[in-house]
Parts: sequence; structure tokens; C-alpha cells
Amino acid sequence: MLFGMRSLTRNWQVGDGREEALATYVLAHARAGDVDDAIRVIDDFCLTRSVMINVGDEKGEILDQAVQRASPALLLELGTYCGYSGLRMARVMPADARLCSVEFSPANADIARRIWAHAGVGDRLTVVLGTLGDGGATIERLRNDFGFTDGAVDFVFVDHDKDAYLPDLERILRERWLHPGSIVLADNVKFPGAPKYQAYIEAQEGRTWRTVEHDTHVEYQSLLKDLVLESEYMGEPA
Ligand SMILES: C[S@@+](CC[C@H](N)C(=O)[O-])C[C@H]1O[C@@H](n2cnc3c(N)ncnc32)[C@H](O)[C@@H]1O
Repeated sequence: MLFGMRSLTRNWQVGDGREEALATYVLAHARAGDVDDAIRVIDDFCLTRSVMINVGDEKGEILDQAVQRASPALLLELGTYCGYSGLRMARVMPADARLCSVEFSPANADIARRIWAHAGVGDRLTVVLGTLGDGGATIERLRNDFGFTDGAVDFVFVDHDKDAYLPDLERILRERWLHPGSIVLADNVKFPGAPKYQAYIEAQEGRTWRTVEHDTHVEYQSLLKDLVLESEYMGEPA
């Protein structure tokens, strides 16, 4: 993984084909139409073969509980990768809810789509190829094609480029997609770290946001510490 850091920061793939290998492994070993089994097989692949940058099993439980608390109808994810967190959200979100996951790597988007189709959740999860920072095209697509209107988004999982966490949250707020009670969960706030996002959320505590800090570990190991922030939007002050 360490040798793959340069490739990861440039292409968002480790560079040794492990993402494509994961898709092949899931399609060969997970029972078709079984989301639990797809999650189990991905965790097994990451623990026994190649570490990946999924949210992982430990932080995945924080994600599960946050989604259950929000009981969302419309979810937004920033950063799909191979679709692991999407599977976890599909498993716990209400049956008629929809997740749109924004991903700018066509290769990662394609892998996630294949895994989701195999797990039987492809009708409730959509990868939107793009990025919120592309000058408006992706935001317009979410608005026009997926019902991202005023107050429509109940849950956001922020898990993409750490420098984009705060600018993309500001874009979401400008679009007024959130409502009081919407939950935004941010991964990797300690490692690799999203200091500007963390400083903003801390400065807004009790005003625009009410935040619970989850002390946890980086995915698939127990030495490196990480922090996940679960923030409830309180609306703009009058
Ligand atoms: C840490 S991975 C996401 C892991 C995934 N959420 C999971 O837990 O299974 C980050 C992903 O975000 C994508 N990404 C990075 N910057 C992005 C941006 N500005 N907009 C959209 N996607 C981005 C990368 O291509 C990569 O697939």
C-alpha cells in the first residue's frame, strides 16, 4: 500500500490492479443478490489479500448507525471507490431510499457498478460520474436527474479528496440541499486528515452544526488512529 501512495493520490487506484482484482473476487465468491455476502467477501479480501481504502469494517459500523439514525430517503456520497460503503448504506437505509454516489474516476465507478449489480442493489444506488467542483455540471445533473432540490438530502457521506471536504460542503450548503436534521458523516478527519473541514465544524458547534466525534482506527488495522465526524445540520442562524 505504501508503494501505491503516489498512484493513489494521482489516479485513486493503488496501481497494482487490486481494485479490478477485487471486482473479480467478489463476482466469483459472493452469493449473487446477497448484499451481506458482498460486504463479507470485500472485508475478507482486504484482510487476507490486499488492503484497500474502503471505509472498512470498524468505521463501517459507525456509518451503519448514522444512516439508521437519519432514516434517509435521499443520500449523497462523495467518493464511491469500489462501492463498499455504498453496499453498507444500501443494507441499512429504508427500502425505498436512493443513494447517489459522486465519483470522478471512471474505472472506480465501473467497478462499483459491477459489484452493486452482483449484490442486487444496483437499482437503489447510482454512481454519478463527476465531481461537485467541476463548475456546475455534476450539481446540475443531481438537481435535474435525481431530485436534489431544496432540503431533499437527508444524509451525506464525505469520503473523497480530503482538501475538497470543506469546499464541497460549502457547495452543498449553497445549493440548500440539506434540511435541519440532515446528517453529514466525514471519514478520515485525523488520517490522512481534513484539518480545514475539522476547524470549520468545530467553529460552528452549536450554531449551524451539532457534532459527535467518533475516535476510531484507519481501515483494516488497529494501530493508526482516525476520527469520524457525525454532524447534524441545524439550519442557518436567523
Ligand atoms: C477513500 S475512496 C472512497 C471509499 C468509499 N467511500 C468506501 O468506503 O468504499 C475515495 C474515492 O473518491 C474519489 N474522489 C477523490 N476526489 C474526488 C472528487 N473531488 N470528486 C469525486 N470523487 C473523488 C476517488 O477516485 C476514490 O474513488
